Amino acid sequence: MVDARWGRGQTMATDNVADAGNAGNAGRGVIPAGRWDDGGMYESYVGRWSRLVAREFLAWLAMPADADWLDVGCGTGALTQTILAMASPASVRGIDRSPDFIEFARLHTADPRATFAVGDAQALPEPDAVADVAVSGLALNFVPQPELAVAELARVTRPEGIVAVYVWDYAGEMQLMRYFWDAALALNPDDEALDEGKRFPHFAAEGLVQLFTQTGLHQMETRAIDVPTDFRDFDDYWTPFLSGQGAAPGYAMSLSEQQRAKLRESLRSRLPIASDGSISLLARAWAVKARR
Ligand SMILES: C[S@@+](CC[C@H](N)C(=O)[O-])C[C@H]1O[C@@H](n2cnc3c(N)ncnc32)[C@H](O)[C@@H]1O
Repeated sequence: MVDARWGRGQTMATDNVADAGNAGNAGRGVIPAGRWDDGGMYESYVGRWSRLVAREFLAWLAMPADADWLDVGCGTGALTQTILAMASPASVRGIDRSPDFIEFARLHTADPRATFAVGDAQALPEPDAVADVAVSGLALNFVPQPELAVAELARVTRPEGIVAVYVWDYAGEMQLMRYFWDAALALNPDDEALDEGKRFPHFAAEGLVQLFTQTGLHQMETRAIDVPTDFRDFDDYWTPFLSGQGAAPGYAMSLSEQQRAKLRESLRSRLPIASDGSISLLARAWAVKARR
């Protein structure tokens, strides 16, 4: 039986996420969404790690060459570019809600097989059965109605084609974010609802399987993808949080300067900093693939 939490009309916590520019709202019941508008800063926060996950994910999919791909929530193009580099596609179309990220992806993807468009994962601007494989990396949890997004991924995929997604293990082993939220909540327990581990609890293997089952996809497989996230020093870890790109940086920038300095020093004392100043953490993503 399908779990009611993915039923139509049910929305994720992202529904009450405020838009960019809501600095100072932490602790007042409004979730600082963070922004998705600065591709360069996004790359230093998540893009550099997202590319490592994309490589493992594509090796796991093992798609034949000359396939038509759709990359939904493509952001700055991390997964799109990895598809071009690894999977010899006939075409890749990247779609994202952020016009700034689409522009960044266009500028940084010089390959005639790649095209990009602004669009919502819940109502893709694509005809039925247009792709051999439809993928989405690190985006599904930000979509207010993820069940609509999975239904759309299935709709645009040809019969017997592949639908596959991955999301960070926010509640578990996405350690760079876990350290952040654990330190933030120790300082501001009232902000517990903002923790991405609390906001996205269903995006582990079991929840992804439920979403896919509900959509009628079959031959499902899931796996954890673990990648190393090695930081040169504490600044290499901390500076991307000052970008406002994404939820945790959005939270960091919603704090007063004094609160942010406290959070920074708390993180410095909690992180496993080696004698040479470097910090080695792990990032886990949960992936699911299935046939349409
Ligand atoms: C963490 S980023 C992931 C980007 C890229 N796939 C990667 O792996 O680096 C999440 C992306 O989801 C996009 N996004 C959020 N909600 C969306 C929606 N409803 N439709 C399309 N894209 C969405 C954001 O604009 C952002 O680019």
